[in-house]
Amino acid sequence: MLYDVRHPAKGDRNIVELGMVDKVETDGNRVTVTLAFPKHRDPLAEYLIGSTKAALIRHIPGVEAEVKTVIKDAGKKPAGLDLGTEELANVRHIIGVASGKGGVGKSTVAVNLAVALARLGYKVGLADADVYGPSVPKMTGTENEIPEAYKEGEKEIIMPLEKYGVKWMSIGYFAKPEQALIWRGPMACNALKQMILQVRWGELDFLLIDMPPGTGDIHISLVHDIPLTGAVIVSTPQAVALADVEKGVNMFRNESIRKPILGLIENMAWFTPAELPENRYYIFGKDGGKKMAEKYGIGLLGQIPLVQGIRESGDEGEPVALSSRPDGEAFVLLAEKVAEAAARL
Ligand SMILES: Nc1ncnc2c1ncn2[C@@H]1O[C@H](COP(=O)(O)OP(=O)(O)O)[C@@H](O)[C@H]1O
Ligand SMILES: [Mg+2]
Repeated sequence: MLYDVRHPAKGDRNIVELGMVDKVETDGNRVTVTLAFPKHRDPLAEYLIGSTKAALIRHIPGVEAEVKTVIKDAGKKPAGLDLGTEELANVRHIIGVASGKGGVGKSTVAVNLAVALARLGYKVGLADADVYGPSVPKMTGTENEIPEAYKEGEKEIIMPLEKYGVKWMSIGYFAKPEQALIWRGPMACNALKQMILQVRWGELDFLLIDMPPGTGDIHISLVHDIPLTGAVIVSTPQAVALADVEKGVNMFRNESIRKPILGLIENMAWFTPAELPENRYYIFGKDGGKKMAEKYGIGLLGQIPLVQGIRESGDEGEPVALSSRPDGEAFVLLAEKVAEAAARL
C-alpha cells in the first residue's frame, strides 16, 4: 500500500522506490511508518505524510496510523531527471508568470513584459513552461525555428533562440501542440524542467517563466525544482478570474512553497476601440484587479487594456511592446514596476 504514495516532484515515483520508507513498526493495531527525508526540508513533506497516513487507513481497517519523519539521506540517489541548476547560476531574478486559469492573457503579458524589460536595457530570457499550450513560438514569430542542442560531456545543452533582444525557449520548438496535449503529469514535468534547466541562458537580469495555467502538481513540482525568486499573477477583472487569482496567490503562499508575489497584473482592464483611443469601456467591471490586490495585500503592478492591436500583434509574432503605441507603452510602464518590485526582494 505504501507503493500507492507517490512523490509528485520526483516523477511520480512512489516512496518505497525512492527509498524514503525508513521503518515500519507495529504494536497491536497501531502502525508507525517513519519516512526519511534528505537533509534539506522537502516542501512536499506534509503532503507525503498525509498521503501515507491515508494509504494506511485505506488498506488496514481499524488501524491507528502514525507517520513520523527522520532527516537522513534517503538511500541512494534515485535514477531520474536531476538536471542541476548550473545553467541558472548567472540569472539574477527568476520570475514565474502565473494565473489561476487559462485564457487570461498570461502568455501575452509574459512575452510583452520580456520585450519591454529588454527595451529598458535588461538582459532577459523567457521560458515557456506551458507544456499544454505553448504559445511563445507563435507570439514571437519563431515557430519555424529549431534551437540548437549539443552534448557537453554527459550533459545535453540547448541554446535559446534570440529575437527582439530576448532569449526564448519553448517546448513548442520541439513538439507539435497536438503532441504536447497528450502528455501526462510526470512527463510534462520533466519536459518543462529541461526547457529551463538545460538551456544555456548565460547572464540574465530576468528569466520569466510562462507557467502552465492552474495550480496543480506541475506547479508544485516546478517551484520545487526551479529556484524561483518570485511570481507575478495575471488576471482579468471578472469575478471568476479573481476567484482563480485567489488560488494562485494561495499556491505561492502555501506553507511548503512560500515564494514572494511581486504583484498582480490586471489584463483586459478596460476595452479601448482603435477608432476611439481616448475611450475606456470597463466591460468586465472596474477596478476588480485593484480590489483583489488590496484584499491579498499585494501590489497592483499594472493594468493592460483590451485592445485589438495586442491580439493582432500576438498573432503576427510581433509583440506590441516593441512599438511606442499607447498599448506598447503600457507594457514598458509595467516592466518598470516589475523591475522595481524585483529589486526590493
Ligand atoms: N490585452 C489584450 N488585448 C487584446 N487581446 C488580448 C489581450 N491579452 C490577451 N489577448 C488575447 O487573448 C487570447 C489569450 O491570450 P493568451 O496570452 O494566450 O492567454 P493565456 O496564456 O492566459 O492562455 C490571445 O488571442 C491573445 O492575443
Ligand atoms: Mg498561454
